[in-house]
Amino acid sequence: MVQQRSIVIVGGGTAGWLTAAYLARALGSRATITLLESPGIGIIGVGEGAFPTIRSTLRFIGIDEARFVREAGATFKQGVRFDDWRREAVGDRRHRYLHPFDAPYQADDADLVAHWLAKDPATREPFAEAMTIQNRVADAVRAPKQPSEGDYDGPLAYAYHFDAHRLAALLRARAVELGVRHLQGELTGVETGEQGIACVHTDAHGALTADLYVDCSGFRAELLGRALRVGPRSAKAHLFTDRALACKIAYAGPDAPIESVTTATAHEAGWIWDIGLQNARGLGCVYSSAHLSDARAAEILCGYVGHDRFEARIIPFEPGWRETQWVGNCVAVGLAGGFLEPLESTGIVLIEAAAAMIADFLPMAGPVDASAGRFNQLMNARYAAITNFLKLHYCLSQRQTAFWRDNADAASIPDALAALLAEWRHRPPSRFDFQGGVESFAAFNYQYVLYGMGFETDLGPSTPPRGEQAHAERLFERIRSFGRQAVAELPEHRALIREIGQRM
Ligand code: FDA
Repeated sequence: MVQQRSIVIVGGGTAGWLTAAYLARALGSRATITLLESPGIGIIGVGEGAFPTIRSTLRFIGIDEARFVREAGATFKQGVRFDDWRREAVGDRRHRYLHPFDAPYQADDADLVAHWLAKDPATREPFAEAMTIQNRVADAVRAPKQPSEGDYDGPLAYAYHFDAHRLAALLRARAVELGVRHLQGELTGVETGEQGIACVHTDAHGALTADLYVDCSGFRAELLGRALRVGPRSAKAHLFTDRALACKIAYAGPDAPIESVTTATAHEAGWIWDIGLQNARGLGCVYSSAHLSDARAAEILCGYVGHDRFEARIIPFEPGWRETQWVGNCVAVGLAGGFLEPLESTGIVLIEAAAAMIADFLPMAGPVDASAGRFNQLMNARYAAITNFLKLHYCLSQRQTAFWRDNADAASIPDALAALLAEWRHRPPSRFDFQGGVESFAAFNYQYVLYGMGFETDLGPSTPPRGEQAHAERLFERIRSFGRQAVAELPEHRALIREIGQRM
């Protein structure tokens, strides 16, 4: 007989349904999975951008790309464009850089990063433009792939934007197809015991018991937070934003171009996300309540949109995470485990990582929490690393309002990041700076942000020999010319979305 584990998941947002589908696919007949969600409480309904890892997650779960585009209202995302982060806009003079998902072009016989660094900062091309064709493709509002390319494949790395409610509904449909039992109702109480959770009481389905309880109840953290009293560790000393004012803005017409990058525009005390969905743009003004009033945030958002004829809702959050996310027979995934802030879309990345680790670590025999310590250590390292990466976006800014000055204050920079920044003064970020398998962002992600923000790495007076430099120049020219060719050949973004969405 197959040894089975019973799993109860509380919460039916992206975290709950993604975890349910992932575990159902990974564990098959070795697990029975029940998910309880409260339609009355609902889901947070934001989180419209993902990271490229989502492609392998969706493929694993068994959702094909056409279904994803159609049912989650997905569009392609090729990275994040940062407007006005380095300094305030002065008239038409704005600072802009792209953090593309595609890695810099790598040549065996030339270190292009070093060659770019050796060029005159006043005249060289922006880093992302010099190192990848994706900058040009995104600027031209082109898609990252041809219609003939296979599901989740393409020459350029990409992720998606999507409607958060439709994504949860799609993941629910797939999880149910994979055999997950769906219960609608509210958790009304939790009994704790030696193992952690003894049972959860519900309004419509009596008491539920399981070998493993997964807390996906969002910021309420019903199991890990409220019942087991595991408190969060605040990241507020480093990351200051704690509120978002979110809205949807209709396109001018059904054929309006759809951007294939998230635009992140800095403002006096935070930034605004602007995401091209299929039928509307999703916008959110992210800010620090210690530096900006809600009324001023609304003014800033209206100024960005160009009018005030829209409804917006305020979403408060506390940047931080629970250092112990797996206690006994209870593990938290998603907002119940932690949340840092919307920048760089790291919420779903962390859900994907947690679901995959639970699938690997859940033993079919013996104590259910045998690998809890390892899970906690790995999730902690991920949250800490993401905190560093997010802080990097803020701490190099020369903007002059209190929010940005506080962000540049050395006391607010995590020690690990400060140490790396000191090293990067004389060498670029290296793959050995980061622990593969533990971190979501690689050296090249840091390079795009670091050099996009104008950071200088001084390689010393020994500029590369002429011959090598000439070879590097030919490679840079090749990137430019591939970029022009890609813009000419790749389909327009909306056209590809339409085409893929019509496939059955
Ligand atoms: P969510 O709140 O969606 O779901 C909780 C579930 O628990 C619901 O089904 C609810 O009904 C249920 N529940 C709660 N209490 C219950 C009870 N007592 N009984 C029964 N059910 C109960 N991430 C990202 O990757 N990219 C992004 O761009 C963003 N942007 C972003 C912006 C802002 C402002 C925020 C706050 C967050 C993001 N995120 C994000 C994070 C992202 O939104 C989040 O990780 C996912 O939506 C997952 O949310 P959860 O499923 O954890 O909670």
